[in-house]
Amino acid sequence: MPLLECRGLTRSFGGLVAVDNVNMAIEAGEIRAVIGPNGAGKSTLFNIITGVLPVSDGQTVFAGEMITGLPVYRVVQKGIARTFQLTHLFPDLTAHENVRIAAQAQHADRWRPLAGGHVLAASRKVADEALEQMRLSRFSGVKAGMLSHGDQRLLEIGMAIAQKPRLLMLDEPTQGLSIEETDRAVQILRDMLAKGDLTVILVEHDMEVVFKLADKITVLHRGRVIADGLPDEVKANDEVQSAYLGGLE
Ligand SMILES: Nc1ncnc2c1ncn2[C@@H]1O[C@H](COP(=O)(O)OP(=O)(O)O)[C@@H](O)[C@H]1O
Ligand SMILES: [Mg+2]
Repeated sequence: MPLLECRGLTRSFGGLVAVDNVNMAIEAGEIRAVIGPNGAGKSTLFNIITGVLPVSDGQTVFAGEMITGLPVYRVVQKGIARTFQLTHLFPDLTAHENVRIAAQAQHADRWRPLAGGHVLAASRKVADEALEQMRLSRFSGVKAGMLSHGDQRLLEIGMAIAQKPRLLMLDEPTQGLSIEETDRAVQILRDMLAKGDLTVILVEHDMEVVFKLADKITVLHRGRVIADGLPDEVKANDEVQSAYLGGLE
């Protein structure tokens, strides 16, 4: 059974069908890239899987359970964490505080009045580990807004992994990064993925990053899946070549 299964997912905005009957199955442990030109529906697909937007039609099954229509916080509790295409953090809080809030938010005991001490200690430890994994420990006490753009994007991934997800969804994590920052982010992600048993869906415009990280690729074009498979198969697909990869190689 796949960890995540999208069945006929569809989302319209007025007359525009931004995500059109998407079927996709992600196995546990898989790193899946979702690629496609601007406006293809990649972020909308993320938004409907994670409950940020309601679906117009279709279902999402996660770990054997229907999660369609659940609010975002319930989807997070089920084990899906994500980052956003545009930076989404608290600039006036320190790096450590940002990650700790994310860690605390998913803690089962967070609302129990007497749980304060141990929740705090546990969240602190999770935050330390997440910063360490993102190689940001030295910035622990620095306000997030003071970090470089590259470090801010890594911090956001740290916030997502502090939620201890089974499925991590990254929306264009290298957007706006320099070549050096991109290489560094890819290295950090590779190290993180080599260790854990995380499943990842990655939206990424940089094809080099895609080919370095992904086990499989899904290509979206005008809301529809036009190809789906191993990187080499997708690269060789004629429809993908003309719709998107034209000019690559
Ligand atoms: N909240 C929204 N309201 C109206 N149209 C939207 C909204 N979000 C996305 N769209 C439209 O849906 C299409 C897909 O957008 P998006 O999912 O952001 O694409 P991608 O992430 O692949 O670039 C685009 O035409 C976009 O303008
Ligand atoms: Mg997008």
